[in-house]
Amino acid sequence: MTALKLVDDRVVCQVPGCGHKSHSLLDHLQEAHGLSVSDYLAAHPGAATVSHALIQGVKAKRKGQRRSPAPALATLSHDMMGVKAPVNVAISEGQCLPKPDGYQWPSTGKALERTRRVVLALRRGHPVFYWGPSGTGKDAAISAFCADTRTPSLIYTFTSGTDVKRWFYSREIGANGTSWSYGILWHALINGIEAADGSRHPALICFSDVDRGTPEQLEEFRLMLDTTSKRLVGPTGQVHTLFPGTRFAFTANSCGTGDIDGRMSSRVMDASLLDRMGRFVEAEYLDWKDEGAILRGKFADLAAKAPLIFDELGAATLAIRNAIRGESTVDLEADLTHRGLCEILAECDDLLWLNGSVPKGLLKKGFRAWLDRLDPDNRLIAKSLIDAHVTGGVFADEDL
Ligand SMILES: Nc1ncnc2c1ncn2[C@@H]1O[C@H](COP(=O)(O)OP(=O)(O)O)[C@@H](O)[C@H]1O
Ligand SMILES: [Mg+2]
Repeated sequence: MTALKLVDDRVVCQVPGCGHKSHSLLDHLQEAHGLSVSDYLAAHPGAATVSHALIQGVKAKRKGQRRSPAPALATLSHDMMGVKAPVNVAISEGQCLPKPDGYQWPSTGKALERTRRVVLALRRGHPVFYWGPSGTGKDAAISAFCADTRTPSLIYTFTSGTDVKRWFYSREIGANGTSWSYGILWHALINGIEAADGSRHPALICFSDVDRGTPEQLEEFRLMLDTTSKRLVGPTGQVHTLFPGTRFAFTANSCGTGDIDGRMSSRVMDASLLDRMGRFVEAEYLDWKDEGAILRGKFADLAAKAPLIFDELGAATLAIRNAIRGESTVDLEADLTHRGLCEILAECDDLLWLNGSVPKGLLKKGFRAWLDRLDPDNRLIAKSLIDAHVTGGVFADEDL
């Protein structure tokens, strides 16, 4: 066995305040910080994880043996719900959509199955149309995929007033007359995204809330989505082909059928355009097992001081969502999204701060953050559902 030379080229852990030195940080990252190598590299792009001495030692040890080499950083891979994907270390964190705060891949239920289908499509380079109620984590899942795999990516959100042509190019008027200036999307589509080492990589473009787009806005995308020859036509009529490997993801609240109950601003979408937008996946709310864990992580202080409210919130959320879906004896016209749950817990957290200790009926008080969004009829129905699962007496008007 070849001894490792003890020149001090050990690598230093970059986690703020740590400073641990070692020839290999692999175990340290997991043990001391609970970080995988890819999470660490995502936070500290380009940081070394093993020393030169260690690499030389491994190489020397292997001399004359036929073995596969130690995995290089470039062959790091990430496992997302059983779908393995390489991490593109050439791309920096800032070139990718960010991993949402506290994001965790679903681990159970329908949300796991749906999210995994989305990730599999993206991993294999297929476009995907991911639709479903607001707040089910559609954009979050696509962002997390890009962040975990270091896929260079951009997101564009449709709103009715937007001039989508400007995402591609715009006319500039300068001292020498008019000229065309091309946007980031245009460059990404035609040239890919350039890494620090000069190599170019195909982008993943997420078009969010596409069903809010008007037919005129969406028409701009028809050629780009052609299955046989993906093209982009410039302002002067020149035709460009897309950078090979460019991928698209679409998110929407409806599957192109428009707004059924008048609660969202979804429009009916052109069927032939929808047909070009890839495979359809309908989003599902997270199972409470996952959502509860994510919320406990986001509201750690509250979880430590008032742990029971998370169980009550889980039971009330299930009852409310069943009523919204029409799978209950009562019908409720409302949404209760992850953002809504965060608002409820944020109000609980404010009250805990104000009171200095856990006040009586804390969760019911926090629920006001959501109940106040409802009209009087729906509020009454929602209160009765909450009453059945949350302690602290019935909702009395003086409580609200
Ligand atoms: N699996 C998850 N882990 C942690 N937070 C999540 C998860 N899924 C969604 N969220 C959070 O829920 C909120 C709504 O997600 P978003 O992707 O905007 O929903 P949608 O696009 O379906 O309307 C965001 O704040 C997002 O960060
Ligand atoms: Mg969204």
